[in-house]
Amino acid sequence: MVMDATNPSLLFLLLLLLLLLGRGLSLVAAGSYQNLTVGSSLSSSGPNSSLSSPSGDFAFGFWPLDANSSLFLLAVWFNATSPQVVVWFATNNTNPVQVPAKSTLQLTQAGQLSLFDSNGQGVWSPNAANAIGVSLLDSGNLVLYDSSGDLPWQSFQNPTDTILPGQSLGENSELRSKLTSSDFSPGRFELAVQSDGNLVLYPIAIPTGNVYRAYWASGTQYDKKLQLVFNSSGSLYYQVENSSQTSLTSAAIYSPTDFYERATLDPDGALRLYVYPKNNNNNSGSTNTWTVIGMLPTNPCQTIQADNNGGGGACGFNAYCNFDDNQSMRLNCECVLGCKFIDTNRTYLGCIPDFTVQSCDEYQSNQYMFNEMPNMDWPGNSYEHYTPTDEDTCRALCLADCLCSAAVFQG
Ligand SMILES: *[C@@H]1O[C@H](CO)[C@@H](O)[C@H](O)[C@H]1NC(C)=O
Ligand SMILES: *[C@@H]1O[C@H](CO)[C@@H](O)[C@H](O)[C@H]1NC(C)=O
Ligand SMILES: *[C@@H]1O[C@H](CO)[C@@H](O)[C@H](O)[C@H]1NC(C)=O
Ligand SMILES: *[C@@H]1O[C@H](CO)[C@@H](O)[C@H](O)[C@H]1NC(C)=O
Ligand SMILES: *[C@@H]1O[C@H](CO)[C@@H](O)[C@H](O)[C@H]1NC(C)=O
Ligand SMILES: *[C@@H]1O[C@H](CO)[C@@H](O)[C@H](O)[C@H]1NC(C)=O
Ligand SMILES: *[C@@H]1O[C@H](CO)[C@@H](O)[C@H](O)[C@H]1NC(C)=O
Ligand SMILES: *[C@@H]1O[C@H](CO)[C@@H](O)[C@H](O)[C@H]1NC(C)=O
Ligand SMILES: *[C@@H]1O[C@H](CO)[C@@H](O)[C@H](O)[C@H]1NC(C)=O
Ligand SMILES: *[C@@H]1O[C@H](CO)[C@@H](O)[C@H](O)[C@H]1NC(C)=O
Repeated sequence: MVMDATNPSLLFLLLLLLLLLGRGLSLVAAGSYQNLTVGSSLSSSGPNSSLSSPSGDFAFGFWPLDANSSLFLLAVWFNATSPQVVVWFATNNTNPVQVPAKSTLQLTQAGQLSLFDSNGQGVWSPNAANAIGVSLLDSGNLVLYDSSGDLPWQSFQNPTDTILPGQSLGENSELRSKLTSSDFSPGRFELAVQSDGNLVLYPIAIPTGNVYRAYWASGTQYDKKLQLVFNSSGSLYYQVENSSQTSLTSAAIYSPTDFYERATLDPDGALRLYVYPKNNNNNSGSTNTWTVIGMLPTNPCQTIQADNNGGGGACGFNAYCNFDDNQSMRLNCECVLGCKFIDTNRTYLGCIPDFTVQSCDEYQSNQYMFNEMPNMDWPGNSYEHYTPTDEDTCRALCLADCLCSAAVFQG
């Protein structure tokens, strides 16, 4: 029979067929849910490079790096969102484990989950034995389970930079930011659930790992057990033993039934609470995005300051921090006039002068002028401090000093 697409009933049949086919395809995709059991494996070069949670919301497996797509992380990510977002990745001493193509993940006969690189060299293993399976739960928790149903290891107890609803952090655990959004190396900030009962945000020196003075602390009681909780109804709070809960952000509570949610310690040092509407949320048609609904501290530009004990603040030398109080809620590092970024991909490194810096030899003050920047502060130790003074005197004193590059006047 020759199909006549102008015949309305045939067109209807054709449409129905297409709809059915579409449905069939999505069923096949959802069917990729399985557990990793003894003898089965995932490989970074496929055919099975990841497995899915029962709902398909999360996936676990090999995640190609943006910076080099022939290198992979072993990771758990939101698979149903756009963009997809990594919420956990395998690390060794906080360093991301990066493997090349043809690497494999296996559950060995001894019940040990092991990641082997392309040379068959073991490069990562969680500290657990006797597992009979690995399963990615709908909460995003990756678990190893044994024959008695116990969970000898779970990703929720080994967090990287993100926590999810249903996940809590007990004392002596921490979140560590990534270096940049695309670089999973250990970054410049840490959120620590301390055994002294204090929840604290610290800047960290790269590459030494030196811990600078805290830029936020809960100030909670000493020697009480502290927990950071993201409960399964979407409340993010901390609680010391036997006392009331303190919300970490003033955000309204979004229900995890209708939203994907995560709290991430971002590369700029802010812990942000993100939501992304699920498709059952009756807004198909509108473009779904990850939206920030709360952050801590509320303005890190003012909080992460250069420290007398070291630490260049949020943005490094010759640079300042600018906070967009709108949807993105990002901290931006900007160069002062006449300077340029040392590295445009890592703006936090600061800026260098794009001109010949004044020299005290043959210094002539009339060759220099001021560029005014209102609402700006340059906190930290000044090498000269004049008070009382007025603006004109302040300008004159700076111009007369061949070493002066910047003067802060507080009227
Ligand atoms: C996967 O493992 C979980 C235990 O974590 C178990 O409840 C579930 O039935 C398993 N699913 C399959 C498809 O084997
Ligand atoms: C990939 O997964 C499918 C479905 O579970 C399974 O039949 C197949 O054996 C797996 N392939 C490999 C190479 O493990
Ligand atoms: C992840 O989502 C993609 C579609 O964006 C789908 O093709 C793929 O099968 C999903 N992966 C898993 C492991 O479910
Ligand atoms: C990407 O990684 C592979 C494997 O380690 C390496 O051989 C290659 O040089 C890298 N490419 C770049 C551009 O860094
Ligand atoms: C983890 O890194 C250390 C060096 O930092 C290395 O000696 C060790 O072999 C690594 N562990 C694994 C499982 O690769
Ligand atoms: C989560 O915490 C909120 C605020 O304390 C509470 O109202 C809610 O019942 C909690 N949900 C669960 C599942 O415990
Ligand atoms: C906390 O409360 C539990 C019972 O509610 C009690 O057994 C425990 O001693 C209390 N701990 C402290 C430090 O007060
Ligand atoms: C979806 O939204 C529309 C318009 O806001 C509303 O009229 C409709 O009742 C909603 N449907 C459901 C199932 O909530
Ligand atoms: C944030 O809002 C300011 C003005 O209120 C605007 O200039 C800036 O471009 C916005 N930033 C982003 C990232 O949308
Ligand atoms: C910044 O990143 C892009 C993309 O990864 C790269 O092409 C570029 O060379 C990088 N620039 C610098 C200054 O490293």
